[in-house]
Amino acid sequence: MIIVTCAGGKTGKAIVKQLVKIGREVRAIVGHQNSIAKIHDLGAAEVFCCDLNDANAVETAFIGGKQLYYIAPNMNPAERIFGKNIIAAARVAGLEKIVFHSMLHTQLEELPHHWERHFVEADLMESGLCYTILQCGSYMQNMLPNWNRMIETGVHSMPYAISCPMSLVDLNDICEVAAKVLSSTKYNFGTYEICGDAITLSEKASILSNVLGKEIRAEKSSLEQALEHGRMLNFSDYSIETMKKMFPYYDKHGLVGSPCVLEWILGRSHSSFQSFAERMAAG
Ligand SMILES: NC(=O)c1ccc[n+]([C@@H]2O[C@H](COP(=O)([O-])OP(=O)(O)OC[C@H]3O[C@@H](n4cnc5c(N)ncnc54)[C@H](OP(=O)(O)O)[C@@H]3O)[C@@H](O)[C@H]2O)c1
Repeated sequence: MIIVTCAGGKTGKAIVKQLVKIGREVRAIVGHQNSIAKIHDLGAAEVFCCDLNDANAVETAFIGGKQLYYIAPNMNPAERIFGKNIIAAARVAGLEKIVFHSMLHTQLEELPHHWERHFVEADLMESGLCYTILQCGSYMQNMLPNWNRMIETGVHSMPYAISCPMSLVDLNDICEVAAKVLSSTKYNFGTYEICGDAITLSEKASILSNVLGKEIRAEKSSLEQALEHGRMLNFSDYSIETMKKMFPYYDKHGLVGSPCVLEWILGRSHSSFQSFAERMAAG
């Protein structure tokens, strides 16, 4: 039984689907009762609802599991507490392995959500438990909520420079990697950078224009606009404060990694932004 936390989110749903597809038995952990039905529908054998802040509830939820695919809530000030709770519960349940879905470059102190995560990575390394850490880049899929609007307006915008390089990754590639590292001991105790080639907003817009047969222009939107959008979606104050640091950081430095490890684990080339755009355009 593989336990998947934060199973109701973008990452969680994709990972659950992948594991079910390859015939693995999944216990999905969701944060809210109203996520239970939709995750059952994805084929999870069991769905538990538990707040990762609650150490006792996490301990109960892990009993009977064999492996854990640990996805943490996004941009949350309790990152280190969640980490300590899952490690303690994994120890009590005698889990064979924890795969931590982390993010690219956790050593960057200017990015609080990356930096907080490096403490959890260190806790795992010192836990005496078997672990694998996947340091994932931003997903190509992050643009999907704005896909239709982008086509309508002909503008692909982000609050950073259109020349800023970002090593995006197709979430489908990550799911394939997740399934592989959960199925083999070869990756135990490794920390792996999981991202594709660096691409700029301008390059994305040019690919999208070709694929969609319609001009898509890259544009740097204002940070205030992004924050306002976050507030509209009820993002927490911590998330808004994090975004205030994240976008200016990207604007200045981008976020670039190497695709070598991803390709080594996949045993093939990683999915390109072109192939992602073609897939999305085909519906
Ligand atoms: N998006 C990216 O590009 C990207 C890239 C690299 C790494 N990551 C990492 O992937 C993880 C998930 O990101 P995402 O984009 O999939 O986020 P998401 O869609 O917002 O999903 C996060 C999930 O966390 C659950 N959650 C929140 N607080 C919780 C709590 N206290 N206890 C239990 N569950 C709780 C929520 O569950 P309910 O829906 O049930 O409330 C929500 O579905 C994050 O750690 C993020 O850093 C994301």
